Amino acid sequence: MLYTIIGSLLISLLSTNMSAHFSFSYFSPCHLCLLGFLALFSIYLTDQNPDHVLCIEGERQALLRFKIGLTDETNRLNSWVDEERDCCRWVGIVCDNSTGHVHRIHLPGPDDHCNFEDYGTPKEYEEASKQRLKGDINPSLLDLKQLKHLDLSCNDFGGIQVPKFIGSLENLKYLNLSSSNFGGTIPPQLGNLSELHVLALGSFHNRFVPIKTIMWNMQWLSGLRWLHHLDMSGVNLSKATGWHQS
Ligand SMILES: *[C@@H]1O[C@H](CO)[C@@H](O)[C@H](O)[C@H]1NC(C)=O
Ligand SMILES: *[C@@H]1O[C@H](CO)[C@@H](O)[C@H](O)[C@H]1NC(C)=O
Ligand SMILES: *[C@@H]1O[C@H](CO)[C@@H](O)[C@H](O)[C@H]1NC(C)=O
Ligand SMILES: *[C@@H]1O[C@H](CO)[C@@H](O)[C@H](O)[C@H]1NC(C)=O
Repeated sequence: MLYTIIGSLLISLLSTNMSAHFSFSYFSPCHLCLLGFLALFSIYLTDQNPDHVLCIEGERQALLRFKIGLTDETNRLNSWVDEERDCCRWVGIVCDNSTGHVHRIHLPGPDDHCNFEDYGTPKEYEEASKQRLKGDINPSLLDLKQLKHLDLSCNDFGGIQVPKFIGSLENLKYLNLSSSNFGGTIPPQLGNLSELHVLALGSFHNRFVPIKTIMWNMQWLSGLRWLHHLDMSGVNLSKATGWHQS
């Protein structure tokens, strides 16, 4: 917008100058060329303005498919609708402001409070639990080619396994799936996330809440050369092999 204003100011300055000093016949095609060029240039600059970057259509569709797989009882994702063209403005989404690619999905559950013990009464816990996302994690996330940060912690995925395809989100630097009620084996495919700095897969447990996730082999951790934070609290490692490699 600013550039358009500057552009049109320039154009009007130039044209008033010219009409003051030259007769109209002097207004040669070349001057018109210059004015046309300035106008086009200002439009070009406006398009480059980061405020105007809309998210990439393919990524928007991928997010909409991801939403369809989820159960969102309290309608937290009410900005995620087809009518809102710019998915970079959707709640929990951060895009790169020069390319428009989705960089972050940040959708932790209620207020970072995951555990029963964070709440005074069972009723408060149940109320807060409604804000947890449930359902499935759609592989459409693979269409987010530049995704660097995925936080789905504190949600409730009903004991499903951490999806193997997450190991193919190759640009991930931060992955937080802690306390989201995943179960079964942690897939060694996560070892393909060679850019990962933070990996949080832990979950709360006590004598009433059983351990649900298990790791049979530690070896894949050795592929994560940048890792500086690893949370596997509450993961059953009793049968895990490959400690020395990792
Ligand atoms: C993107 O926007 C943020 C905050 O608005 C700013 O700090 C950052 O420098 C911007 N990055 C680029 C590449 O423009
Ligand atoms: C992962 O998410 C949990 C719950 O939102 C949070 O408490 C924890 O600090 C996060 N871990 C990291 C390493 O960011
Ligand atoms: C990802 O990891 C699995 C298991 O470790 C491996 O078999 C597979 O070849 C890897 N894929 C890529 C693309 O590196
Ligand atoms: C960990 O997994 C092994 C193998 O399935 C099982 O025998 C053991 O009871 C589990 N430990 C806990 C604390 O759940």
